[in-house]
Amino acid sequence: MKKLIVAIDGHSGCGKSTTAKLLAEQLNYMYIDSGAMYRAVTLYFLRQGIAPDDVFQVKQSLEQIDITFEVNPESGKSEIVLNGEKIEAQIRTMEVSGKVSEVSAIPVVRRFLVEQQQKLGENKGIVMDGRDIGTVVFPEAEVKVFMTADIMQRAMRRQKELVKKGQKVDLSSIIDNLSSRDFQDSNRDDSPLRKADDAVVLDTSNITIAQQTERILEVVQQKL
Ligand code: C5P
Repeated sequence: MKKLIVAIDGHSGCGKSTTAKLLAEQLNYMYIDSGAMYRAVTLYFLRQGIAPDDVFQVKQSLEQIDITFEVNPESGKSEIVLNGEKIEAQIRTMEVSGKVSEVSAIPVVRRFLVEQQQKLGENKGIVMDGRDIGTVVFPEAEVKVFMTADIMQRAMRRQKELVKKGQKVDLSSIIDNLSSRDFQDSNRDDSPLRKADDAVVLDTSNITIAQQTERILEVVQQKL
């Protein structure tokens, strides 16, 4: 059967990753969380004390970074690995969330990751979510979705997710983080977050994850 590229972009915390993962499972496609890759680089910079504005250090440290994805045999889910270390939990902290938009605005970091993302999609049959997937990484993707949702709904969902992971964070800090990331991601010079002209807009404020997945599946079916 024909294999497609499904690009899902949108604002922070509106369910992109959860939906993209389910969609990939149903289509039997590979799922790549491009945000996890920016978070992995951010974690590395935080651990090594690398200042995002030190271009020389940033360039040198990228040479030391190896990012792969590995399927967890227990959950069957693909998880990110940084230089051999599984870091899925470590990249979801508020510390990383607070720094990632600054790191992802660095052009050399974007070039480094976009190249890897494009390689991962070489054989199609991939669902990738992020901020610039339909505009920069795969401008030729057959299916492009732009997801958004009311900030309050997004923050409450994110808080529930963090509680499940044992992290207690107050709602106002989550709202601040989501809105400041949206602002920084939309206003950076290099590949800012924006809807691709040919993307379908999906507002997830009042629909369930199952409904979001169903809507995107309908768009995919039309292209198959
Ligand atoms: O998807 P997630 O919210 O985990 O992404 C974390 C951050 O990584 C975003 O706020 C954004 O700064 C950056 N990002 C990006 N381009 C992508 C994916 C994520 O700049 N394709």
